[in-house]
Formats: sequence, structure tokens, C-alpha cells
Amino acid sequence: MLDRRSFMGSAAAASLAAPSGAQALAAVPLPAPTLLDTKPEAYWAAVRKQFLIPSDVIDLNVGTVGSSPRPVLKAIFDGFETTEQMTQSGSEDYPIWGYGAWDEYRKPFAQFVGAQVEQMAILRNCTEANSYVANGFDMKPGDEVLISDEEHGSGEMPWMLRQRRYGIVVKKFAMPKPPKDAADILNRIDDAITPRTRIIFVSHISTATGVILPAKEIAALARSKGIVSAFDGAHAPGMIDLDLKDLGCDLYTGSMHKWLFATKGTGFLYLRDKGVMNRVWSTVVTGGYDDPARMADRFMQIGSSCIPTLMGLNAAVDFANGVGIARIEARNRALADYMHAEMMKRGAESWTSPDPALRGGIATVNVPPVQRMELQEWLWTRHKVRIRGGNPSKLRLSTPYFLSKADIDRFLDLFDQFRRMKGIA
Ligand SMILES: Cc1ncc(COP(=O)(O)O)c(C=O)c1O
Repeated sequence: MLDRRSFMGSAAAASLAAPSGAQALAAVPLPAPTLLDTKPEAYWAAVRKQFLIPSDVIDLNVGTVGSSPRPVLKAIFDGFETTEQMTQSGSEDYPIWGYGAWDEYRKPFAQFVGAQVEQMAILRNCTEANSYVANGFDMKPGDEVLISDEEHGSGEMPWMLRQRRYGIVVKKFAMPKPPKDAADILNRIDDAITPRTRIIFVSHISTATGVILPAKEIAALARSKGIVSAFDGAHAPGMIDLDLKDLGCDLYTGSMHKWLFATKGTGFLYLRDKGVMNRVWSTVVTGGYDDPARMADRFMQIGSSCIPTLMGLNAAVDFANGVGIARIEARNRALADYMHAEMMKRGAESWTSPDPALRGGIATVNVPPVQRMELQEWLWTRHKVRIRGGNPSKLRLSTPYFLSKADIDRFLDLFDQFRRMKGIA
């Protein structure tokens, strides 16, 4: 068994001696939380300085990928600099993860999302974690998985593949567009359950609309019927205060590179207990995958992967804790609410929910006859504003906490300008 503690000790010692190129990433202290009470916009403007995104760029597409702030980048760069010296103290220590338990990296993130370290497998992205669930959950031909019609490709496709290859049945329910309230979603799920339903797999936060599904209630409904509940939470960590224990689901997947701003190449699979762990076959395996003494770390025996990636993950958790997840969630939501309200004033059709409790940091709107791809290109190439959406006219507007109200106003002015240019409105 590798001694990770001595490995880290020697790496840290080496870093003191080594000249650091990462020193170029000068630390900028986080503002005092008291500033938030007195001058909230000044507080968030100071937080914004932690990001390398140039001040004239507005990133409304954290929903695809976030930008890591300075302390995260520094941890990653320092991590490479120290680990690549190959001075680890143990004769079996190498700068790779993908073997072993790696508690020092699983634990802070597990705590951040209300889980125990034994329940957490760190993987390389949410796509990988979703494939673990769809590929590995024990099912017979004819058994059904219930998904929504708004799953991301990485949530839907592995189930479709399994249907084609092994004869399971993928059943879809239509998400209400928009959902009026939580019951509106729950009733549709309840109606779609059959005696063959073995697992419900849905997004916690819809990639298409930003709607936050009532995950706790869905998990309870599934449990009451002896069905396993699994959620794709790609957008949840760092957007909302995620508490997996409270949520009560069996399986949960996610990304840390989006709203948590961790290293690209970080995702996770949460498995509630040994009961469900024993019902999921691993997909990518090396020695240790079937060790009955192991818990969720069985699912991260995936072969050589990158330790500095995990160092960046720990730094991202520290960063979010430094700002405070309650403050982060409140800010993400307030900005999205503002964006949503302003777009409604402009005649947009809301594709999120009218119930603010069912929305987070994403405001999705439909704005026909505006062509979203044309607008998206114009905004980015001419005005350094990044958005994303769906054709023909859907805009998915992500509002991470480091944006200012002025950033959103600038987007709104540009949106108005574009419409005037096109003779719309
Ligand atoms: C709901 C959902 N699931 C999964 C993914 C894929 O995430 P990753 O890039 O971490 O594989 C995304 C990406 O946008 C998503 O929105």
C-alpha cells in the first residue's frame, strides 16, 4: 500500500526548495465578508479579481466549463512542479492517481457536498460517471430505466447504447415546459413508473433549461417504490449548496470543472451505501476494482491519472469555502433572477420555471425570431461576451457569482442593439 502522507510530505518539502514558475500567479487576498454587508458590489468585484478572465470579457457560459481562479491554478502548477521532480519518498510512489484510495483529495470534496469519503469516487468528468451508472447498474433485458426528455447527451446516450446492445428499455417522460412547481414534475415521473422500472436517472439541474428538479422528493418517491434513484448533478456543486445526505438518493454524478471552478478533468460518482455499490459493476477497471473491503474507491481504480488535477480540486473546494457556499448560491440565484426578469421585460419566453425555487444560476429563455447562433457569434467575436444556447432561438444564460450587475446590463444592451440591427422589436 502506498504511503500517501509521506509522498505529500516529500512533495511539499521539494516545493520549498524549488523555484516556482507559478509564483507569477500572485495571490490576491479574498475580500473580508463584512464588505458584503456594506458594499456588496465591491465585495464581488474583489472576488472577480481572483479570475484570469480579462476585465472586458463577460462569461455567461459557466454551464459548459468554468474558469479556475488563481489559487486553483497555483495549486495545479505547484503540483506539477513538485510531483514531476520524482522525489517521492516511497519506492512505489509515482506522480499518478488511479490506484489507491486518495482520501486526502476525496475527503474535502465529499464534505463539501454533504457526503462521507467512503461514498465518493473521484472520476475524470460527469460523462465518465454517467457511463459508470448506465453501463454498470445491474439490469436484465426488459428492465426499464426512466429518464427525462431533457438529459444531456452524456446522461442519455449511455442508456441508449445499453438498450441497443443489451435490450434494457429506456422510458422517457416529458418535462413540463416550463414546470409550474415541483408537483408538476413529480406527477409526471410517478405516472411514468411501471412494474419494470428499476432505476430513475434524471438531471438534478437541467442542462437545457436550468430548472432544478425536486431531487429529494424524486429520491423519496423512488425509494417508496423500491426503485433506485440516480441524478446527473453536473451543474450542482458550486452552483447550489448541495447536501447529498439530505437529498437521500442512491447514486449521484457531477462535474467540478463547471460551477466549482476546479481543474478540467474532475468529476465524481457518489454511491450511497454498500447495497447500491454491489448493484453497480465498474466500467473502467484495474486491480482493486472488486476488492470487497473497499467502498466507493473501488470505482476509481482507473489507471494512471493526474495528481495535480486533484490538488486543484482541493484548492477549488478551499476557494468556495473561503467565499462561502451560502453566499455563492444566493449570488448565483440573484443574478439569474435579474437576468430572467430583464429578458421577460424584453418579451422573451421563459424556459426555466416561473417558481424561483426551481431555478438556480441559469436563466434559459426563448427569443424568436432571434437566431441564437448568429447572436452568439456576434456577441463573442465583436463584443467579448460568451453565451450558449440551442437552435433556433434558445439562450442559456449562466450567471456565476463573480459577474457584476453591470456585466449583465452590458449583455442586455447588446441584446437590444442586436435586435435593432436585425429590425426586430
Ligand atoms: C447535465 C449535464 N450532464 C453532464 C454533462 C457533461 O459534463 P462533463 O463535461 O463533466 O463530462 C453536462 C455538460 O454540460 C451537463 O450539462
